[in-house]
Amino acid sequence: MKKYISILFVFINISAFPQVSLQNLRCEMLVNPLGINVTLPRLSWEIQSTQRNTNQIACQIIVASTKENIGKNIGDLWSSGKMNSNQSIHIIYAGKALQSRTTCFWKVKVFTNNGESAWSDAAFFSIGLLNKNDWQAKWIGYDKASVWDSISQFSRLSARCFRKEFQTIAAIKKATVYVVGLGLYELFINGNKVGNNVLVPSPTDYRKTVLYNTYDITAMLHSGSNAVATVLSNGRFFTMRQNYKPAKITTFGYPKMLLQLEIEYTDGTQKIITSDESWKLNVDGPLRSANEYDGEEYDATKELTGWNNVSYNDNKWIQAELVNAPDGTVRSQMNEPMKVKQIIKPVSIKQIADSKYILDMGQNFSGWLQIKASGKAGEKIRLRFAESLQKNGSLYTANLRDAKATDVYTLKGNGIEVWHPCFVYHGFRYVEISNYQGTPSLSNFEGQVVFDDLSTIGTLQTSDTVVNKIIKNAWWGIASNYKGMPIDCPQRNERQPWLGDRTTGSFGESFVFDNAKLYAKWLDDIEESQTAEGAIPDVAPAFWNYYTDNVTWPGTYIFVANMLYQQFGDKQSVVKHYTSMKNWMLYMQSRFMKNGILTKDKYGDWCVPPESLQLIHAKDSALNTNGALIATAYYYQLLQFMKKFAKLSDQTDDIILFETAAQKIKTAFNEKFFNTQFNYYGNNTITANLLPLYFGIALEKDRVAVFSNIYKKIEQSNFHISTGVIGTQWLLRTLSNFNRTDVAYKLASNKTYPGWGYMTENGATTIWELWNGNTANPQMNSQNHVMLLGDLLIWLYENVGGIKSDEKEIAFKKIIMKPEMIAGLDSATATHYSLYGNIYSSWKKEKNIFNWNISIPANTTAQVEFSTSDINSIYENGKVINNQSDIKIISAEKDKTVLLIGSGTYHFKCKILNRK
Ligand code: BGC
Repeated sequence: MKKYISILFVFINISAFPQVSLQNLRCEMLVNPLGINVTLPRLSWEIQSTQRNTNQIACQIIVASTKENIGKNIGDLWSSGKMNSNQSIHIIYAGKALQSRTTCFWKVKVFTNNGESAWSDAAFFSIGLLNKNDWQAKWIGYDKASVWDSISQFSRLSARCFRKEFQTIAAIKKATVYVVGLGLYELFINGNKVGNNVLVPSPTDYRKTVLYNTYDITAMLHSGSNAVATVLSNGRFFTMRQNYKPAKITTFGYPKMLLQLEIEYTDGTQKIITSDESWKLNVDGPLRSANEYDGEEYDATKELTGWNNVSYNDNKWIQAELVNAPDGTVRSQMNEPMKVKQIIKPVSIKQIADSKYILDMGQNFSGWLQIKASGKAGEKIRLRFAESLQKNGSLYTANLRDAKATDVYTLKGNGIEVWHPCFVYHGFRYVEISNYQGTPSLSNFEGQVVFDDLSTIGTLQTSDTVVNKIIKNAWWGIASNYKGMPIDCPQRNERQPWLGDRTTGSFGESFVFDNAKLYAKWLDDIEESQTAEGAIPDVAPAFWNYYTDNVTWPGTYIFVANMLYQQFGDKQSVVKHYTSMKNWMLYMQSRFMKNGILTKDKYGDWCVPPESLQLIHAKDSALNTNGALIATAYYYQLLQFMKKFAKLSDQTDDIILFETAAQKIKTAFNEKFFNTQFNYYGNNTITANLLPLYFGIALEKDRVAVFSNIYKKIEQSNFHISTGVIGTQWLLRTLSNFNRTDVAYKLASNKTYPGWGYMTENGATTIWELWNGNTANPQMNSQNHVMLLGDLLIWLYENVGGIKSDEKEIAFKKIIMKPEMIAGLDSATATHYSLYGNIYSSWKKEKNIFNWNISIPANTTAQVEFSTSDINSIYENGKVINNQSDIKIISAEKDKTVLLIGSGTYHFKCKILNRK
């Protein structure tokens, strides 16, 4: 698994004060700190210490408007003074009001119980264009199709190329471009692509929000003549792709753009170049069509050589047209843009017919294929993409539905040509290559993996190869489906941000990817999709208008807010969305609750293993769980989150409102769904019993008996999974909560159907949409979905790896380290790079000794648990823990010792008790 951690942060090293130093200064957790759209940014830093148990007791921040001032430690924007605070993440800026375009340089120093740090090196962030009137640019475009385009279900629209030349007249201090290019754009200065973002901006509901990106182009400008140029293509803005289905948005309009290039000269004067009717436009270039589902067509014979540089003759180009602005508010993109994140070399190529080859990338992923080819001008190389092959070795495309997933490259015919698409992506492992001139070899191709520029912040390796393979597949599945929003799948004619796929999944993903910004953006998408009455759809942004008023899919809004708070300490998102979340809760309650039971559900326990391997959904009622049971249980759980959120949002009066509703529901739920004779819920499916147990609806006296019904069912299935998207979210953790981690491990590592291991054993390199993904009806059978991951990753990191954030001291300020002893599992090494720094937990069983190495960052503590009450058998660094000042023994009873440790590295050893 690749790690991207260290390269993405500002690295600050201080040698003058070796004991305490600072690194990774972050503003709003942004990787790219340009053009942020808040005036009260949050600042975070990591403390490094050579000593154990280092805690911040105070900090001091300075923010300056110039490099000179920060160099002299003058905080002309904010000088916090020494603040007595142990908070080292999300400190809210409290200086002078920040205006559009301000660049802020900042530093921090901290005071700890082990001494104080020097001032950190300076980091910076800049404020974007906050107000409508900061924009002088005009929207330009070309609001029509050309004769070669096709406005149909399989829409084809050629790209729009815009260009403009301008002069600089003095030495440049700074030059910045702000650009919205809808649906997608590429930006060039003097013939060079600006930055390495791809498929920008992130998709939004363009009627509500359109996102701009900010680039520092100071180093790209020349003195004298310069050229700025863009290519615009469809993205999600112009997509006729679903126009045959009434509930789907067909298009937001033809591609259009807004661009403002601001130059500050060293003499203090300014020049602003804006998009307007003086720009030149060409719609008859090489990019003939680019449709997310059908692929990209590029005719290199039509290349406009030199078009994006100075001195190009654009006499034959037409004038750009002024077009209407989209309805959405223009805002800065705060989530990470997509990039080419990894290169994949193909593993084999086979000829299957005359001039037809199958290339195997060895991995299912999303992105594109770069080809190297040469040949006669006008020859067309066709690339068709698919996830798997048929028995005869040709592509299996039935599960793509009507997505054509085909790129066509027309050779220009002068030597070696290298090409990849720029405005589409495919979900694939195999490529059918037709009409390649000559014999293609592996070295002519490379896979470019495209997803949001998120760091991988977690790794987990165990002694079980099946589990390791599942973890790897999960990484690929999650990465493949980050596309500026979390989508369901990257290959078929769908690719929608379905809420229900991420309810608990988003929490599991947060152990692996730094997805805080992406999910904060998604909450905004969801909020924007809310109707005036309060309804939230199943898909947001609502490219598909699916307002079905169920609980489990829309409820993800609240689950994700909770994840951001628990895992990343993002209280702001909770507060920001509180009113909308509450409105949805009240909307659901007032319309669909009868006597404490929420009557409305749509998806049930989506995708349980069905009675026949060919089915998508089970028809046998014994396998399906009552919809009202699911809806009511989830609503109860959401009320618990809302109580917490009411407190965080200073809406304490609401707590009683939610609590009263919860009490009523609990009683009604138990009355309606609990079978007092046999101690099960509903029709005794595992899911029906899991939800009331995990959510705390089942009465204390009944819990053990309810659990024994779950156990019996699992035993009957010979320790296989029988839950769908809903039940699987709570399955493994419930088993561990009831001390049956051994059973959870069996389910997690099983190689036979149904289970995640069955997927890996049957060639999966990602996670399937269906447990029976290799046999089911292709109509709904993606091989790259993440919703069936359920709570697997959470369980693996928390219960196997031993890294969990305490629920009260959020964002890993206090870490609960409690790996469970599992027969047959001999070791695990987990890491998680939290906002405080890296957490490491690596254990190994050797004969009857449990070796455990731990490392936790400064300014955190960990509650560490051992499965023995004999404290004399626990050693740290060769010494009994009893006499060590850094280790506090909290309790030692009932086969359990609980310690509290401060930051630093520890090497524990203890005797293993014989347990399950
Ligand atoms: C999607 C799922 C989604 C479901 C709900 C499917 O087609 O791929 O991921 O949650 O529909 O209807």
